[in-house]
Amino acid sequence: MATNKRYDSDTLNSLRDRSATSSVEGAWENRGRMQRELVQVPQSFQAFGRWQREGEAGVRWLAALPDLVADQCAQWDLRVDGEPRHGDNGLAVPVLRDIEPLILKVSWPDHLVEEQALGLRLWDGQGTVKLVDANPAAGALLLERLDDSHTLRDLPLQQAVPLIGTLLRRLAIPADNGSHPTADVAAELRESLWHRWEATGRPFAPRVLDAALGLAEDLSAAVPALMVDSDLHYKQVLSGQREPWLVIDPLVLVGDIEYQCGQLLWTRFDEMGDGVRLRWCLDALVDAAGLDPARAQAWAILRAVDYCIWGLSVGFTQDPLRCQLIVEMLL
Ligand SMILES: Nc1ncnc2c1ncn2[C@@H]1O[C@H](COP(=O)(O)OP(=O)(O)O)[C@@H](O)[C@H]1O
Ligand SMILES: [Mg+2]
Repeated sequence: MATNKRYDSDTLNSLRDRSATSSVEGAWENRGRMQRELVQVPQSFQAFGRWQREGEAGVRWLAALPDLVADQCAQWDLRVDGEPRHGDNGLAVPVLRDIEPLILKVSWPDHLVEEQALGLRLWDGQGTVKLVDANPAAGALLLERLDDSHTLRDLPLQQAVPLIGTLLRRLAIPADNGSHPTADVAAELRESLWHRWEATGRPFAPRVLDAALGLAEDLSAAVPALMVDSDLHYKQVLSGQREPWLVIDPLVLVGDIEYQCGQLLWTRFDEMGDGVRLRWCLDALVDAAGLDPARAQAWAILRAVDYCIWGLSVGFTQDPLRCQLIVEMLL
């Protein structure tokens, strides 16, 4: 984290002074308080409508977050070492264990934390961030610290697309780990898309919906179980020291790795602009990851239709439009 603001020595000293105590128990308590005071939950994270949508539990979890971080610091013997980052699910706090720079990620404690830990253990740092420890019940993961001031989002598409395609293939290790199969996702879409299309005001022409239902039928046949990070996108590939680029925040599915082509198009669609460049990106992904071109196109269309309809159902405006254009250009 090259640009990460670290705490200055005055701040740390004043907190250390307050932690001076004669009893061991008191020392631990004060150390916990010190860590808690260093954790400021960013306003942008608190403002997510999500915590309200989760109801009372969401609001309570948000209020308890500094304590959760402090407790986990005590359990793993960590010191807070900078301002937290965040995504949509959790707070990523730079920490030190002795002198080792790590990230303590505390996320909304649902099943995804355990699934992420499982995936990271299986990948074992080969193309991904290394998992150091996990406490899924508390939503906590301890991770190798990477440099989040450099991501694949910062590289031009001509470089970023082949690099991310190579990572997609690298993560495709055979797996029989009980994760959700991509074929089941396709089967679920075959069952749900029509109702959701109706409920969101028919955002696509009927012929597009028919095409998507046909693709969902084709893609719901079982395929060999390869691991796929179903949340792989450019901002989730950070610069590392062990390797130039490493994946963070994976969500594991097993099956077709072509599944991921849709998100890799819509997350940088604004730079692709027209059908020619969009097609170049899809072809570059196919080449770099060694994909089946027809499946890559099929998943790109199906996932763009699905994400468009989901986005409309939760009030998004821009991503649904991007996905409509992608579908038009690819069909
Ligand atoms: N291992 C890491 N090294 C450095 N920064 C990280 C690391 N993991 C997460 N971050 C920072 O925290 C942000 C959110 O992390 P992420 O795992 O994507 O959380 P979420 O599950 O909320 O999306 C990242 O965009 C990045 O800035
Ligand atoms: Mg993320």
